[in-house]
Amino acid sequence: MIMQFDLKGTDSQSKARAGTITTDHGVIETPIFMPVGTVASVKGVHQRELKNDINPDIILGNTYHLYLRPQTGILEQAGGLHKFMNWDRNILTDSGGYQVYSLSANRKIKEEGVKFKSHIDGSYHVFTPENVMEIQRSIGADIIMAFDECTPYPCDYNYAKRSMHMTHRWLDRCINHLEKTPLKYGYNQAFFPIVQGSTYKDLRIQSAEYIANAGAMGNAIGGLSVGEPAEEMYAMTEVVCGVLPEDKPRYLMGVGTPINILENIALGIDMFDCVMPTRNARNGMLFTAHGTMNIKNQKWKDDFSPLDEMGMTFVDTDYSKAYLRHLFSVNELLAMQIATIHNLGFYLWLVREARKHILAGDFSIWKNKMVNQMNKRL
Ligand code: GUN
Repeated sequence: MIMQFDLKGTDSQSKARAGTITTDHGVIETPIFMPVGTVASVKGVHQRELKNDINPDIILGNTYHLYLRPQTGILEQAGGLHKFMNWDRNILTDSGGYQVYSLSANRKIKEEGVKFKSHIDGSYHVFTPENVMEIQRSIGADIIMAFDECTPYPCDYNYAKRSMHMTHRWLDRCINHLEKTPLKYGYNQAFFPIVQGSTYKDLRIQSAEYIANAGAMGNAIGGLSVGEPAEEMYAMTEVVCGVLPEDKPRYLMGVGTPINILENIALGIDMFDCVMPTRNARNGMLFTAHGTMNIKNQKWKDDFSPLDEMGMTFVDTDYSKAYLRHLFSVNELLAMQIATIHNLGFYLWLVREARKHILAGDFSIWKNKMVNQMNKRL
């Protein structure tokens, strides 16, 4: 089937929306947070727990990593990423347009594409809009992303402008090539282009107009959460959402903290992904409705209360703060697993709760209360 987006409700006090995205791999209720499963694994959580306890409608994979390992041929032999990792719900793959810049050394960006050095073995590779579309056909995600350049922060105006125009030309090449590249498996793939333009309002508007014109099934915003102050990020999201069509999902790439997510939902964003809940969990940082805590801290040593009284997953009530602190202090693998399940459970609870409040009509009041609460350090 062709991906479908249905708006189910909008908030009267903000631009927040609740909707559903339907693909061949099922329904995604929006707003949604997509756990990051970079190398065909959401680090620290196996698929059964992910499904039963965290229950996201969609997860994310990375073209850059999967292309390097296990490599495209293996994924094709497996019958695509869903079968390879035994995940029968939705998957979105990022194009590598971010990882090439953030992970690989010695990259050379040209009109043709990007030559980069693998962060694993130092071997050289080239990504072009064309081969990235082919790789994403082979991986077989339900939603695939345009190949773009993610500009750093701060970014000189002229560089941002030139880069944005190149991202637009790359978009045209992606679309042309995708039309010529057949689907590999028995289901459809939706293609999302990406708005760039750094922190310049005029460039963001220009880029959003160009991206909207492509008439894609959904649209993404990139180049944010790269070190700019949150207020600048929100200002960009706001102008871009003012231009992007209302009847298509909007995906803000690589964002963010629980507060960033609620503020951007209020500005009209429907989809998010970020390594923060999984990566920070592995360092002992837990997100809760009442603030963040470093579970490694001495103060939890003899606190036998549940990990999170309000938590939504079994780990929150099965284990105490003192126990998890102990697991971290003796370097047990289970520490990272428990913390990851807690954080992902919290992120998914947060977006589901946001959806409920949008549909109930009291999103803004709830959002402001939550932002205040979550700002604390426990
Ligand atoms: N992830 C976070 N930001 C970006 C971006 O600007 N482009 C891509 N492709 N992925 C991202």
